[in-house]
Amino acid sequence: MIDRLKEIRERALSAIEAVSTSEDIDKIRTDFLGRKGALTMLLRGLGAIPPDERPKAGQLANAIKGEIEEALSGKSGILSRGEAASKIAGLDLTLPGRRRPVGSLHPVTQVMAEIASIFRRMGFAVAIGPEIESDFYNFEALNIPSDHPARDMQDTFYVDEKILLRTHTSPIQVRTMQRCRPPLRIIAPGKVYRCDSDVTHTPMFHQVEGLMVDRHVTFADLKGILTYFIQDIFGSDTQVRFRPSFFPFTEPSAEVDIQCVMCRGAGCRVCSRTGWLEVLGAGMVHPQVFRNVGYDTEEFSGFAFGLGVERIAMLKYGIDDIRLFYENDLRFLNQF
Ligand code: PHE
Repeated sequence: MIDRLKEIRERALSAIEAVSTSEDIDKIRTDFLGRKGALTMLLRGLGAIPPDERPKAGQLANAIKGEIEEALSGKSGILSRGEAASKIAGLDLTLPGRRRPVGSLHPVTQVMAEIASIFRRMGFAVAIGPEIESDFYNFEALNIPSDHPARDMQDTFYVDEKILLRTHTSPIQVRTMQRCRPPLRIIAPGKVYRCDSDVTHTPMFHQVEGLMVDRHVTFADLKGILTYFIQDIFGSDTQVRFRPSFFPFTEPSAEVDIQCVMCRGAGCRVCSRTGWLEVLGAGMVHPQVFRNVGYDTEEFSGFAFGLGVERIAMLKYGIDDIRLFYENDLRFLNQF
């Protein structure tokens, strides 16, 4: 028994001496000290040896067990320090860190900000209004009679009979005039809603409204300011055309076209071969609208306009499907 214990001690200590990885240390621990390890198995046979030899053998076995454990933990400390050191040795601390992706403003937001900055230079302040609007502000006060086609259920999202999602930003004209006296110069950017959906229409889109009221404001001011704006945003050589049109809340009314940005007026698919693209609606504020907000129509005159932000962005950047703005595909958004 004594000899076999000593033999186990020698085998264990030389195995520990020879190992080079932490996994091998664990293996040696099970091989010798585990439940089925060499030392454990040998001690199971203790009962079979003469009783007077048992204490000595037991003592020796415990001493050997302690010796093996100490050797194992000493070696495992050396190995793990070495392993950590070689991991650090493989690290290149001069490599650059991982880059965080940087986002950008949505093209609609960018165009809206650009429009606002152009008008701010001309003394216009920014006003806002609610997206859930009353029939009064969206239609009634804007001189849109209750039998007007724009009131059709197909075009307007109604919340109830008198409350709706605003179909344009024009109600902000009325809200602003109720709050302030002339002189007045505002633009009003925001979301608008129409029951409409195809390649060029989405149920929600963005408009910027404009309103200027003062003494002696004329159609010439309207033409001058809108021409300046268009040539600033599309380029100073952009041709502008004013066409007679109709809106219930302006008189006279006009639609404003720019020379087609794709074909420069030659005629193409985008401009339906006309060479022109409609970009906004405008006109002189209708006297009935002034009366609705208590302005003196003898003293004051003004003009208003409204434009679609997505449409401007599409023409400016050559985007051919409005739905791209709402899919939030980073491959699209990253280009702006
Ligand atoms: N509100 C009109 C529209 O949505 C645009 C417009 C605004 C026209 C102001 C004239 C004056 O079509």
